[in-house]
Amino acid sequence: MNIKNIQVNHMTEPLGFDLSDLKIEFAVNSEKNVTLEKKLEIFVDDKSVYQTDWQAYTNNYFQPDLKLKPRTRYNFTINVRNTTENISASATSFFETGKMDEPFSAKWIGNNNKDIQNTLLKRNLELSKEVKSARIYMSGLGVYELNINDKKVGDELLAPGTTNYDKLIQVQTYDVTDSFTQGNNTIEISLGDGWYKGNLGFDGGKDKIYGDQQRAILELHLLYADGTEDIVNTDDQWLTTAGKITKSAIYYGEDLDDTIVPDNWVEASVLDYPIDTLADRLSLPLKIQEYLPAKELIHTPKDEQVIDFGQNNVGVIEFYNREPKGTKVTIQVGEILQKGNFYRDNLREARAAFTYISDGTNKWIRPHFTYYGYRYIKVSGNTQPLQLKDFRAAVVYSDMKMTGAIKTDNPEVNRLFENVQWSQKGNFFDVPTDCPQRDERLGWTGDAEIFSNTSAFNMNVYAFFKKYAKDMKVEQNSHNGMLTMYAPSLHVDEGGAAIWGDAATVIPWNMYSKYGDTAILKQNYSSMKGWVDWIHRNVEKSGTGLWTGSFQFGDWLSLDSENPAVPNGKTDEDFIASIYYYYSSSIVANTAKILGNEKDHKFYTDLCKDIKQNILKEYITETGRVAVDTQTAYALVLEFNLVPENLKSRVVADLVQRLKKDNDHLQTGFVGTPFLCQVLSENGQHELATKIFLNEDYPSWLYAVKLGATTIWERWNSVLSDGSMNPEGMNSLNHYSIGAIMEWAYKYVLGLHDQDNGYQTVYVEPKFDYRLKHISGHYDSSYGDLKIKYDLETDDNHTIALQIDVPYGQTVKLTLPRIGSSVNVDGQKVTDQVITLTNGHHEISYIPTSDYIGRYTIDSKLAAITADKELFDKIKSVTKELDMFNDPENVDRLGHMSIKEANMLFPFINIPTSEMEQINQILTSTPVLSEREAQDVSETV
Ligand code: BGC
Repeated sequence: MNIKNIQVNHMTEPLGFDLSDLKIEFAVNSEKNVTLEKKLEIFVDDKSVYQTDWQAYTNNYFQPDLKLKPRTRYNFTINVRNTTENISASATSFFETGKMDEPFSAKWIGNNNKDIQNTLLKRNLELSKEVKSARIYMSGLGVYELNINDKKVGDELLAPGTTNYDKLIQVQTYDVTDSFTQGNNTIEISLGDGWYKGNLGFDGGKDKIYGDQQRAILELHLLYADGTEDIVNTDDQWLTTAGKITKSAIYYGEDLDDTIVPDNWVEASVLDYPIDTLADRLSLPLKIQEYLPAKELIHTPKDEQVIDFGQNNVGVIEFYNREPKGTKVTIQVGEILQKGNFYRDNLREARAAFTYISDGTNKWIRPHFTYYGYRYIKVSGNTQPLQLKDFRAAVVYSDMKMTGAIKTDNPEVNRLFENVQWSQKGNFFDVPTDCPQRDERLGWTGDAEIFSNTSAFNMNVYAFFKKYAKDMKVEQNSHNGMLTMYAPSLHVDEGGAAIWGDAATVIPWNMYSKYGDTAILKQNYSSMKGWVDWIHRNVEKSGTGLWTGSFQFGDWLSLDSENPAVPNGKTDEDFIASIYYYYSSSIVANTAKILGNEKDHKFYTDLCKDIKQNILKEYITETGRVAVDTQTAYALVLEFNLVPENLKSRVVADLVQRLKKDNDHLQTGFVGTPFLCQVLSENGQHELATKIFLNEDYPSWLYAVKLGATTIWERWNSVLSDGSMNPEGMNSLNHYSIGAIMEWAYKYVLGLHDQDNGYQTVYVEPKFDYRLKHISGHYDSSYGDLKIKYDLETDDNHTIALQIDVPYGQTVKLTLPRIGSSVNVDGQKVTDQVITLTNGHHEISYIPTSDYIGRYTIDSKLAAITADKELFDKIKSVTKELDMFNDPENVDRLGHMSIKEANMLFPFINIPTSEMEQINQILTSTPVLSEREAQDVSETV
């Protein structure tokens, strides 16, 4: 037995983070499912400052009630034991506080020349004594790198990240104990414009949004071996000049001139700039998480040199310089080729380039103060032949662990899931951005809200969203509770739309629900409430009890807009807004209860009841007809339980009808997309959900996969079927929103249906479908990795075989579909409908009450029937009435109909009832072609 994966506030060994609401989690790795006791002890300088008694292990965490001190390292030990069996384990880890409330004694400094693009700030430091420990507490605006003795400190990029710098500037803490030597040392800060000063925002953007001068503040705390201490601050003893970067900005990219040798150092100026906005960081560091090799060098028809990395990704390009001194190499980026040529028009005004002037030394080069979203790069200006090995894509995203994955027997589905994860990597860039490539890359609230649940399956996102929740709160504080369209808002005051604004409530709630940690609710309660109160004030003005008449994005980018030029979709905007008003109020009511605020709980519960009544009155008849006949409308009504139980089936039936009219293809936008398949699977229509999910023609998720997508696109058809970019514009090829379908896959295909208390109890309820017979996946919670594998139709008895590995401390409640009287669990016959599994590897098998072989039905389309020659021949031996479908042209025209429909509709087709019965017999007893093909393959293997 051992203890692993210790996390403090969902991070490993956090240094200098805001550590309010301390929570320490750990996983026990144990073969045996023994009963344990646990104990925590915390030390400062080997002195115990906190300890628990031995206590029953009822969960995997501690929430020490310990008043933290600034700039303090807390080491701790976790112990677990079982005294009767004489088993025990222990592990140590630490967390360290930043400056907390302690004000900076250092001053902001900068260069008087505000136009300098790369301000350098430098100080020499003579150390006569041995350093025992050294910490730097600092920040820099826009973005900075810290070098000590010409070596970059840490592996973080683009610190201090993006915030509304008027209100919040994050402080980073570095352990620099090993960076100094006795004798002479130099500390150097290199600054770029970043999100603070560089051009940002769409439609050409704005310069200097938060400030017009690069600046930094730093405190170095030295503890010498002899016990004495020293503090070195940024002040007028620092020197400054301009560095080698002649221009950089987030959209612009970077120009780096390595022939420049910084000189003309002058005294830095002390700047009058607030220090009360400085706060310990929440941002997870942006780091290079992996490298992608260059895949192919392409000489395009336009005679360009293009390198393909094979994967649309986000980060920085690194290349090995072999150019003679003075050569200027230019790299541009793009996400797709058009007619085989380099293309970058969808980046709009973002220049997104990197130029490098060589100093003649062979070495790896990368830009410092920008980032790119790309799959292809175009290289020009080189004098040496390009070699693939000289290029690599450094993939950068906020430092989070991948926690989940799903694999099936369908390679396109697998690629789709990879695409979702790649779009998450590409856009979880300090804040959740809409896209990473064009002149936008903003913390769009709605996109993040929609995708937040999916993201929490894929990665450990709690700390990431806690920071973003703070960003939202900061904006709401200066907008009377209203949430701006994106956070940080870049001084743009617009916002307040449903879904987008509801990120204020939904994101903290989703994080609490997934991770079982109330810290984010505590942090954001006032703004969650502030948001609902803001809507409420608007609603009161309207007098309808519904949220009407406000600016809305609607069901953004849905396909059912009556006017195709309007991306808001057909679903009534007030209907969507009112439902989210209801949902957000219910979140606040529940949060109030959790946080022990009875008064608020009552107020918002009553409010919810009223809103629901008003919605029902306006939009849903007593017999369950929904006034808005769109896929999204039905999905919302079902998702948010707006109709009484007895009317649900009516709404489901109407949704099925709606889909039928839409040829069983989705029409949904940002709002309906996460829910469409979920409500179908939840309400007895998993087959239909799977069908829609597996569609390969437009519109569908797999349409993009079929066209070679390696990330999720913004529009359902950002690329048209001939490979050309959608001429409508606004076509990011790396936009995670509609990747929210993966939540459905985690919940219904892999079956991670629900959980309690941060995955202490997991309700696993897969719904099987014949089209996905082999499924495996996992979810790595703070308890450890829950691994799941399903195989359907493993033998002639149609046996379903499952393998489930449950980590220690977790309980799985497994509910399986089509189970008969018993299931074999680890060699035992079990008759429970809900099977309880604890720590260990489990093998489960059963024969379902009916098999998972797909067969034709009377509703099967003629196109599918005629494509199955064997089947069609059988049917033609019953009737001659369908002979016209020997002609492919007729199949083309009428193949979307079933035989039943064709028989009813066309006077020239007359199949008598008795023959129809025979046809039905043949159809329902014939496995669909793909099943027979799969069978053939397995027989030949
Ligand atoms: C962004 C979005 C965002 C939308 C709001 C777009 O420009 O890229 O994804 O949610 O605007 O309408």
